Amino acid sequence: MRRTEVLRQLVAEHALRAEQLVAPLFVKEGLSQPVEIPSLPGQYQHTLPSLVREVGELLEAGVRAVILFGIPARKDAAGSEAYSPDGIVQRALRRLRGEFGDQVVLLADLCLCEYTDHGHCGVLAGPEGPVDNDATLEIYGRVAVAQAEAGADLVAPSGMMDGQVQAIRRSLDQAGYSHVGILAYAAKYASCFYGPFREAAESAPRFGDRRTYQMDPPNVREALREVAQDLEEGADLVMVKPALPYLDVLRAVKERFGMPTAAYQVSGEYAMIHAAAQRGWVDLERAMWETLLAIRRAGADVILTYFAKEAARKLRA
Ligand code: PBG
Repeated sequence: MRRTEVLRQLVAEHALRAEQLVAPLFVKEGLSQPVEIPSLPGQYQHTLPSLVREVGELLEAGVRAVILFGIPARKDAAGSEAYSPDGIVQRALRRLRGEFGDQVVLLADLCLCEYTDHGHCGVLAGPEGPVDNDATLEIYGRVAVAQAEAGADLVAPSGMMDGQVQAIRRSLDQAGYSHVGILAYAAKYASCFYGPFREAAESAPRFGDRRTYQMDPPNVREALREVAQDLEEGADLVMVKPALPYLDVLRAVKERFGMPTAAYQVSGEYAMIHAAAQRGWVDLERAMWETLLAIRRAGADVILTYFAKEAARKLRA
């Protein structure tokens, strides 16, 4: 059954569809031209007009969902640009909704690290931390309402604060956005593979690291508890992140809960493949398919990946 390509396809157990892919996109306030991100070939810090063009190209390719990350011109201790009605992501959401209506699924990453001057995902209890979990929840609620108001279909809290899904669900419901869903970054590990993202999003912490709120890599039972808690608090989809180094976690989450499950093939995963391909050490296209299929095979219904456009184009061809 492996003798020819058509035979192999006849018995292939898993496949990718462009509709399952979500493209992460960066939009930066005050840019006059899009800027390519050196460690993420083909990915840009976008202006509003270049963001609209990019989403047009993604839709053309068959990708229907995007997740937005904003880089504000002004950062402060509370990350207030994250919830300002004129914040860069809110403006981007309104623009994209106006341009593309309901053809596109708009997700908004919900975190403060791009917006705080100290680069942590929440507000701090003192000048050198720690993060004040409960004070952060109140701000996350405001961010969620601002994103919903601007047109997000789903908000995606990625800060790993305890109780974030419940706080956001309550704020959305109270503000009349009960139809806006939550994609919870439920099992998000303190990973070295976020390096290129932090450069792209200008969100590296000024001091310390994120190990006091993101998960510790050895733990899988804890991931199941995190997911159970987020579902109880009202998450509509749950996510495991990064993807390839945590396929076992992804599989365990899917088997245990059977909920719509997402996985994020993060910046470092994409950068590694590109770096090796540039040296001729792996074949870029084959590495893309093999990793995306592995993520599907492990149980992901939805994949967030910087390969979204390229993969979708090839699926069409
Ligand atoms: C924000 C956030 C991060 C990523 C997504 N949302 C970075 C981090 O936690 O430091 C990483 C995504 C990627 O590496 O592609 N908290």
